[in-house]
Amino acid sequence: MVSKEGHPKIAVIPVAGRGTRWMPISRSVPKELLPVWRRTSASYAFEEALRAGCDEVIFVISPGKHDVLDHFLRFDASDLGPEYEGMSWENLHERVRIHACIQEEAKGLGHAILCAEHDVANRPFAVLLPDEVLMENGLMMLMDETPAVLLMEVPFEQRSNYGIVKAHEENGRLRIDDLVEKPSPALAPSSLAITGRYTFTPEIFDFLKILQPGVGGEIQLTDAMRLYTQKYPLHGILYRGMRHDVGQPFGLLTASLDFALRDPDHGNDIRQIVQKMLDR
Ligand code: UTP
Repeated sequence: MVSKEGHPKIAVIPVAGRGTRWMPISRSVPKELLPVWRRTSASYAFEEALRAGCDEVIFVISPGKHDVLDHFLRFDASDLGPEYEGMSWENLHERVRIHACIQEEAKGLGHAILCAEHDVANRPFAVLLPDEVLMENGLMMLMDETPAVLLMEVPFEQRSNYGIVKAHEENGRLRIDDLVEKPSPALAPSSLAITGRYTFTPEIFDFLKILQPGVGGEIQLTDAMRLYTQKYPLHGILYRGMRHDVGQPFGLLTASLDFALRDPDHGNDIRQIVQKMLDR
């Protein structure tokens, strides 16, 4: 475990992917700006980082995604939850420094994280994948355990859709021994899948740098994590809350519905409309 001083204050949010699952919309609108209930899909990861104590957010953008950075540079406290009500734009932007680095070509998530190395500047840091909207603050759960990754239990037949970890218990904590990308269900070492929340020490960059591009010319973050676990302890924290994959239409709909049903002003009306549709 790193000391309190080592508690990450920087969040890296990669948004330079191709978004093929959102074609044709993503050809002209970044998927991160699609609405999930009343806000943009990426704003939930941004807010999660702020609430977990980050005061600097680095977006890794592709050359065509300046709109995502602009959106957050103009971000107002009123775009966030009720706790931020009354906070001025200046106050919010004094509290959190927002900037971006460019990934010229989509060469994989690992490569996107490597693009942020210079800005991370040898400090511990968090990574949040904005495609995953968590209804509870998963990043906060990792902060004191850095370096760590958030895990979720998946059903047997879904093991082949995720990165699955092999782990053992050590002093009451889960230590990761290895990771397997999309294994066949019977060969998977567990049912614990990696979600899109991580905290790292800067040594992860050493491993990202030595990796050769794999399938599709991509550098995978999980490959670097495998090497990392051989040298440094990486902890797994189990998340039991609701998670929506807004990287594709199904998850965006369920996330919107989840937020809408929880909205004190609209939840009841939405529930009634959904019930009417179900009764049809
Ligand atoms: P995904 O592979 O899940 O998303 O990457 P994608 O590439 O954007 O979308 P699909 O799969 O084509 O529909 C996970 C995260 O990593 C970022 C993505 O933006 C997403 O937040 N990423 C991925 C990059 O920033 N650069 C890359 O080269 C690849």
